[in-house]
Amino acid sequence: MSDEAPVEATTAQGEALTSRTRLREMMQASPLAPDELMFNLGLYVRSSLLVKFLVLHDVYRRIQALPGALIEFGTWRGQNLVLLENLRAIHEPFNKQRQIIGFDTFTGYPEEAGMAAKSTETHGGYDTGGAYPDYLGELLQVHEAMNAFGHIRGAHRLIAGDVVETAPKFFADHPETLVAFAFFDMGPYEPTIAALKAIRPHLMPGSVILFDELTWAGAPGEAIAFKEVFKDVRYSIEKCQFYPSKSLVTLL
Ligand SMILES: C[S@@+](CC[C@H](N)C(=O)[O-])C[C@H]1O[C@@H](n2cnc3c(N)ncnc32)[C@H](O)[C@@H]1O
Repeated sequence: MSDEAPVEATTAQGEALTSRTRLREMMQASPLAPDELMFNLGLYVRSSLLVKFLVLHDVYRRIQALPGALIEFGTWRGQNLVLLENLRAIHEPFNKQRQIIGFDTFTGYPEEAGMAAKSTETHGGYDTGGAYPDYLGELLQVHEAMNAFGHIRGAHRLIAGDVVETAPKFFADHPETLVAFAFFDMGPYEPTIAALKAIRPHLMPGSVILFDELTWAGAPGEAIAFKEVFKDVRYSIEKCQFYPSKSLVTLL
């Protein structure tokens, strides 16, 4: 494990930041053996991470009755994809039709991060390193293998490249796709509008879209793209109960 501070953006300050640093040190120096650590990971899960698990659990319950894929635009390390696979295993263990798809460059933000870039959206920010998609692909299959019908695996997909190109191509190549859930977590306008336009014909009544920063004035690209693509679409919208900076849109 690296000694460097993680690339993850933080709003922590003062004592909270000191405690976060101490938590990292304690995790690095954990007295738990690897097997014990895997079983007790919650020792190191902060509320700011736990809330993300709760949000996805809430989303999963909303879309469970729908057919269709679960998609994340802006996958980074793929934690949400792994979480979705395990939520699938809990909520619908025998549904091996549920496909989970992650889009990312996996090399971080492209050179042109687009309008309203924020500090972490500099070129190459969130680079996962060359072999990471292979690692994440195997990790997803390992989780699938531990779940019911584990001998059937490999349905999930990682789509590497700039979403401006990969999202339209993916849906042109797979016109049969239905989208039950999409999580937008890239930020800038260009990839967000490209992906929103690409998924729009594949959404159904009840489909849920989770937006990371729809209300963040400092980075308006996501909201502008959403308003453009959804101006003729009937939907309901709410802020996430546990995570007010995130917004949930449900197609009517
Ligand atoms: C904030 S991170 C995503 C974090 C992740 N959703 C999570 O919760 O752990 C934003 C991601 O968007 C990706 N990204 C930004 N612009 C992109 C583009 N045009 N095409 C593909 N991926 C892009 C970056 O590489 C980065 O991994």
